[in-house]
Amino acid sequence: MNITIIGTGYVGLVSGVCYAEIGNDVICVDKDPYKIDMLNKGKVPIYEPGLKELIATNRLAGRLAFTSNLSNAVRHSDIVIIAVGTPPLPNGEANLSYIDQAAIEIAKAMNGYKIITVKSTVPVGTNERLAKLIKSHTNMAFDSISLPEFLREGSAIQDTLYPDRVIIGAEYQNAADTMVQLHKPLTQNIVVTDIRSAEMIKYASNAFLATKISFINEIANICEKVGADVTKVAEGMGYDKRIGSSFLKAGIGYGGSCFPKDTSALIQIAGNVDYEFKLLRSVVEVNQDQRFNVIRKLETIFDGELNGTTIAVWGLSFKPNTDDVRESPALEIIQHLVDNGVRVKTYDPVAMESFQSLFGKEGVIWCEDAMEAAQDADALCLLTEWHEFAKVDLHELQKVLKQPILIDGRNVFNEEQVLGTGFIYYSVGRPNLNQGVKEKVPAL
Ligand code: UDX
Repeated sequence: MNITIIGTGYVGLVSGVCYAEIGNDVICVDKDPYKIDMLNKGKVPIYEPGLKELIATNRLAGRLAFTSNLSNAVRHSDIVIIAVGTPPLPNGEANLSYIDQAAIEIAKAMNGYKIITVKSTVPVGTNERLAKLIKSHTNMAFDSISLPEFLREGSAIQDTLYPDRVIIGAEYQNAADTMVQLHKPLTQNIVVTDIRSAEMIKYASNAFLATKISFINEIANICEKVGADVTKVAEGMGYDKRIGSSFLKAGIGYGGSCFPKDTSALIQIAGNVDYEFKLLRSVVEVNQDQRFNVIRKLETIFDGELNGTTIAVWGLSFKPNTDDVRESPALEIIQHLVDNGVRVKTYDPVAMESFQSLFGKEGVIWCEDAMEAAQDADALCLLTEWHEFAKVDLHELQKVLKQPILIDGRNVFNEEQVLGTGFIYYSVGRPNLNQGVKEKVPAL
């Protein structure tokens, strides 16, 4: 099939490449000529494992092209997929201006029947509104499709080529059938439904996953007080098929471009129809508070006096295998430390630059590697579970730190690794290890 994708962010770029990979002709469009230029030179504007290679092979095969010329791309395609950003407005609602603009430009470029598909996450009712907007700018026939996206950063290609399910929201059967054909090579689990339900499935899924994370984080906080181990609790819960083991990893809360935005947007969507989504409000509140789990531990260790200490921070991205720092817990944690007179030394394998562009370059010491960040620090906080941190030899680490204090915000290390190293080790929802001897420490 001939497909145009508007927007070369995570969703647009990865989807475009994957549609090409399964044999379609794909044109990716972005209004940023710099991005298109980069992509045409074989460079990839985002960090995503495997993406660069897949782009190269599909360009070589002549199935994938990049352009800033939206009109030409639309004219050459039967299916046009909108995958532009819907960033949150200050009130939590999704900003739909990019999507509206894309819809109008598509309408103006149309030279015949098209299937116009929305992959961007949009509030319920948006597809219907967009259809009206398109109709007001063209006489050509078209069908609207809602095609919500479920890919995760860091495993985006895997998620797109082998999805758990594909959701197709359609008004008419013919357009739905075409979209089913397009996705059949990817999965058997294709749910065809009405447009509003498809839009809702995306929000409900993300809200549910966010709920699982906040739930296990609260269980972790209780585990800390009663002396239980949340990793064992999660394991024990996860074997129950009705619960499932995924998204039960306790830590310092979820970040990223989706969960924070989509939970706020769903609260807002509910509010707009006079429904207060109390459960989801709590999920967001718990997540916000969980970031301070690390700070509370530092304050306990240093008797509330962080001013003048040097703290090393490992990990800045909201999760490993991405350079994305949007809503990363590291932003608020480091800001809090800096505001309280802490000298922060930090390192992340890939997210240093993106972090600096959001946080600024001032006030923090940026290090070349993990050990340099730890050198002479009074304590080390691990905020993102990058593989290279898990491989660190704790005996070596102990030698470079001024004090052997490790706060593991992602439960990367286990008791066997820590015992005998002399570390004062605090993790999330697990018994603390004090000077290598397992003993009860005061409740936090
Ligand atoms: C998420 C959804 O998984 C995906 O389906 C949707 O399309 C976009 O949002 P993503 O944000 O890329 O994907 O990352 P994900 O792997 O889901 O993790 C989100 C956040 O939750 C991360 O900050 C991660 O650290 C945190 N998390 C995840 C936990 O704290 N515990 C867990 O058990 C799982």
